[in-house]
Amino acid sequence: MPKTILITGANGEIGHGLVEALSGKPDTRIVALDLRPLDDHLAAKCHATVVGDIGDRDLLGRIASEHEIDTVFHLAALLSTRSERQPLLAHRVNVDGTLNLLELAIAEARSEGKDVRFLYPSSIAVYGLPYLDAKRNAGKVCEDDHTRPTTMYGINKLYCERLGDYYADHYRQLDQEATKGGVDFRCIRFPGLISAVTVPSGGTSDYGAEMLHAAAKGESYACFVRPDTRIPFMAMPDAVRALLMLEAAPKEALTRRAYNIAAFSPSAEEILAMTLRFFPNAKVSYDPHLKRQGIVDTWPEDVDDTAARADWGFHHEFDFERAFADYLIPGLGV
Ligand code: NAD
Ligand code: SER
Repeated sequence: MPKTILITGANGEIGHGLVEALSGKPDTRIVALDLRPLDDHLAAKCHATVVGDIGDRDLLGRIASEHEIDTVFHLAALLSTRSERQPLLAHRVNVDGTLNLLELAIAEARSEGKDVRFLYPSSIAVYGLPYLDAKRNAGKVCEDDHTRPTTMYGINKLYCERLGDYYADHYRQLDQEATKGGVDFRCIRFPGLISAVTVPSGGTSDYGAEMLHAAAKGESYACFVRPDTRIPFMAMPDAVRALLMLEAAPKEALTRRAYNIAAFSPSAEEILAMTLRFFPNAKVSYDPHLKRQGIVDTWPEDVDDTAARADWGFHHEFDFERAFADYLIPGLGV
């Protein structure tokens, strides 16, 4: 029996990488859901595609009745800058939407008497360092420290991690029926992701990818954070590989539900220096945006991913040098 995987937000940046990676696996059926129609080359790799809103519970019910879902990769969300601009919409999509997907997963688990794996991409935005000196002195932040986010997006993500715990643990204990099957919730707190094939929008870590993509197109770019701004980043293939590794990990190996993962933590200035190495004519200026700067100033400079390495063998393949030389620059197709 093939395994059926539901991906929400499948047309987004991670969705692009994930659909590509999963489509290469035998006996895997992808059911893709997004507000926007999937790009044609991605749609061709899916068993079914649905254009719709994760807020539409009737639609989710129809998807569940038509497909026996084994795993959910719930990617659909509004990212951090957009969430600050539209906080009520962000709450509806990021929190109510996640609740709808958890309900779908528990209903599927019960009706089929099996565990449904639920992979949730959280973020370094769940952390909140109160001022710049605290950020600079915090070192590699562990999962249970500094979880006082200040943005709507970070608060949404942290709360949804808790909802995942609730559906995985307490829901099951309270209801005898649920012991026949439950939600196996697993979560990664991603750094800012940089893809060679897609350009981000609506996030606050976007400056890294935007700077590079603008340089590749010969366009000038005004970076919206100060040169000394430092947050963790990761190349998209490592992020997709991490999701698949966590999904495949045996349940008994996992000591927690939400895991940090890390790769490299350059400052904006260091990203520019690396970009100039490959595009010496890149025209980049700095025009810090008060609100967006304020967001990244609360995110950690680096995170501790010891648990992910110990429990499910995570390791990044792309450090800062390799991400540019072996993945981003060749993938930009210039
Ligand atoms: P993205 O913005 O590229 O993709 C999100 C997708 O969700 C889009 O295709 C969008 O159309 C879809 N979507 C939005 N609202 C929807 C709705 N109501 N119903 C159905 N689809 C909807 O984002 P991404 O970079 O691919 O991120 C995917 C997930 O990973 C998100 O949950 C994000 O918070 C998380 N994440 C991303 C990063 C990053 O740097 N890209 C870092 C940490 C966490
Ligand atoms: N990279 C994302 C953003 O900037 C964080 O999850 O919104």
